[in-house]
Amino acid sequence: MNVNGEHYRSIWRESDGAVRIIDQTRLPFRFEILELETLEDAARVIETMQVRGAPCIGATAAYGVALALLEDASDEALEVALSRLGGTRPTAVNLQWALNEMALAVRNHPHESRAQIAFQRAAEICHEDVETCRAIGAHGLKLILTHAAKKSRVNILTHCNAGWIATVDWGTALAPIYMAHDVGIDVHVWVDETRPRNQGAALTAWELGSHGVPHTVITDNAGGHLMQRGDVDLCIVGTDRTTRGGDVANKIGTYLKALAAYDNNVPFYVALPHTTIDWGLLSGDDIPIEERAAEEVTHLTGLKANGEPESVQVTAPGSAAANFAFDVTPARLVTGLITERGVAEASEAGLLKLYPERAHD
Ligand code: MRU
Repeated sequence: MNVNGEHYRSIWRESDGAVRIIDQTRLPFRFEILELETLEDAARVIETMQVRGAPCIGATAAYGVALALLEDASDEALEVALSRLGGTRPTAVNLQWALNEMALAVRNHPHESRAQIAFQRAAEICHEDVETCRAIGAHGLKLILTHAAKKSRVNILTHCNAGWIATVDWGTALAPIYMAHDVGIDVHVWVDETRPRNQGAALTAWELGSHGVPHTVITDNAGGHLMQRGDVDLCIVGTDRTTRGGDVANKIGTYLKALAAYDNNVPFYVALPHTTIDWGLLSGDDIPIEERAAEEVTHLTGLKANGEPESVQVTAPGSAAANFAFDVTPARLVTGLITERGVAEASEAGLLKLYPERAHD
């Protein structure tokens, strides 16, 4: 995607070997690029959410393994890297998927060639993610076109950020929206602010604004009201882990939007690459839900009039706060799963129709 007319991916390797990311904690006010030099750099930026979004976390972890092997390509160092990166965030299954891919790619190779093979596999993972998201966009576009055939403006509600910055490029939930806008459909996006970290207000709004897509930021509580009034034609969200039974873990608050959509007959779609499907889990009850620091709830960070960021407390001093980062939307509330292979019914049978090779996993 373009930032001020220049094409960027969320993570990339320069010709001189430097691995770079866009610091997502500085957006939307500052566009800053960071270099990852070590395993620890990669693990830290995932933990601090300087990179975030399930596919982008996976891509960063892949480069983290390669950086670790550059320092020390022994079996022990590989295990340390897999365990350090694997412990950074628990919910997005793309992390485990990418680490498995990296281990498979290097394990049976001599130590002296491991780093080079790892960088190559990390680059492939990034390339595959871009192509996968492009295909998700094309399938999702067909859904938007069916709505555009019935009315001139299509209103789509999204939660959190499942845009290009959450992947390597294009995004999952936002890819169909970018494509719809690009082919001339009048698409307007209701952007949930997504407390506590405001990925919607900060990142989705920034992405859509940079691409010229009409959008309006709303409070997390407004979606149900808009759906009751007929102001939402469809919802499209991303996911951090979807079980083979079609249950969907995504940013906290997604479930409530799915309930409101169900009550108001608004189609509720989830866009995801195959790397986000956990074939080893049937029920969403078994998905680990990340709990983060209470300060993300008790405090808000914004920009002061002088352009400097400031964190302020918004809760009563002394009140306890809990910060559940994800929730699970049961498959029965999901209209369809938009994948790179087409739109699946949210069920084991629906997913296996598109991924028959997974039947015996
Ligand atoms: O905690 P985050 O910001 O990493 O959570 C991200 C989400 O919930 C996204 O919707 C999900 O990862 C899909 S990204 C294409």
